[in-house]
Amino acid sequence: MDFLLLCLLCSCVLYVFFLIIFPRSSRFNFRKLGLPPGNLGLPFVGESLQLISAYKSENPEPFIDDRVNRYGTLFTTHLFGEPTVFSADPEANRFVLQNEGKLFECSYPSSISNLLGRHSLLLMKGGLHKRMHSLTMSFTNSTIIKDILLVDIDRLVRLNLDSWTDQVFLQDEAKKITFELTVKQLMSFDPGEWTEKLRKEYLLLIDGFFSVPLSFFFTTYGKAIRARRNVAEALRVMVRERRKDSNKKKDMLAALLGDGEGGFSEEEIVDFLLALLVAGYDTTSTIMTLAVKFLVETPLALAQLKEEHEEIRAKKSSVALEWSDYKSMPFTQCVINETLRVANIIGGVFRRTTADVNLKGYTIPKGWKVFASFRAVHLDQLHYKEARTFNPWRWQQSNSGSLGGSTGTGNVYTPFGGGPRLCPGYELARVEISVFLHHLVTGFTWVPPEEDKLVFFPTTRTQKRYPIKVQRLHRLV
Ligand code: HEM
Repeated sequence: MDFLLLCLLCSCVLYVFFLIIFPRSSRFNFRKLGLPPGNLGLPFVGESLQLISAYKSENPEPFIDDRVNRYGTLFTTHLFGEPTVFSADPEANRFVLQNEGKLFECSYPSSISNLLGRHSLLLMKGGLHKRMHSLTMSFTNSTIIKDILLVDIDRLVRLNLDSWTDQVFLQDEAKKITFELTVKQLMSFDPGEWTEKLRKEYLLLIDGFFSVPLSFFFTTYGKAIRARRNVAEALRVMVRERRKDSNKKKDMLAALLGDGEGGFSEEEIVDFLLALLVAGYDTTSTIMTLAVKFLVETPLALAQLKEEHEEIRAKKSSVALEWSDYKSMPFTQCVINETLRVANIIGGVFRRTTADVNLKGYTIPKGWKVFASFRAVHLDQLHYKEARTFNPWRWQQSNSGSLGGSTGTGNVYTPFGGGPRLCPGYELARVEISVFLHHLVTGFTWVPPEEDKLVFFPTTRTQKRYPIKVQRLHRLV
């Protein structure tokens, strides 16, 4: 907080100097430059502090609403050190996503790339990105989930839930589960001492994504860089052991090693695995936690969800779920859709223009940043009736083209992005969340926290990690 105040104070002083030195006529003229209208805010910090303080609250929407009302759904601002065109417009977002690799490319600050590693899929570009994206997809598609992954997803979710007694922090438990699932899927490791040690380092690494990038031994970012080194080293050792192992496995790591056909270098594999663990971890676990929070706050929806899962359970003799069970959860899919719409951890994506780009009549200069905001579209009353209310039933009508006021879901629903960088884990995440909800609502009764607020900065989460008092109804393993 002190740091924010200091930034604000410095910026105000600089702003006053700026006003004195430059007369009004010589200041930034958006229309003349062909840019969307807007405001660049204070020198250096731009409008970042307003954005941060909005997203630290339970209701960040006014930040976008005010600007959309003043300037329209495309506006210019200045965020995190750079002028940025902010899009709250579904068509513009689609254009940005579809033109990835042509007119736009993904853009992360160096503080983030240092944590991810340069061979991470999130940072790759061009032909290599295409190849690695489709390789990832081939390990996360529905056939693989159905034939190979589901058994372990179900088993590991049950194993975790079965150990719950008395009080658990749902947010932490969900993170533990998604981490263990990803490690299993990528490198066939069952949870144990090694995975738990890796996960502890990972927690430090993830904190680094949301911290001031000052790399001293005592700062959060400095600790994250050290944790990255430790995680990379642990993965490197594991990769070496796997190369020597004659007992061939059929996981992502085996595909990366090429198993006799060349494959990738050790550094490439380490960066790749590390980033996949990042990509699927906070995202999926946050949706698991928030689905439960929203269900608790919407008792009719919770009752309907329970009914759906109890019907499945009533037809089964074994506790383990099968693919046909997953396919009999239509209301659960509505709950997941709605949770992703209302509170997705990925509110949008940053891109950088690789040429002067014409976007809805404006010209965005080459090298500028564009933020395609999914959240702004998902919460726009124009596209969703009562857009700011959690209403899973709206998805029951979505096939008839209405989400309570919208014309189809294409551009207005993009929780997993789109275009060449469409999330390869979109189906996997749905399956993991569905299995988790199934065993939670059929295996437990629970008392939710009296109050636990949702905040959105530095990342979407509940303030108290959603503590629940649980009572297990039967053994899950
Ligand atoms: C609810 C859960 C999830 C959400 C909301 C989500 C969302 C997203 C979004 C919006 C993107 C696009 C980023 C961009 O365009 O720059 C993305 C990319 C990605 N996601 Fe997910 N994701 C989820 C789960 C997963 C899981 C389980 C995996 C594990 C396989 C995963 C792996 C990835 C990877 C590797 C990318 C980068 C793709 C690329 O740049 O080509 N995600 N995700």
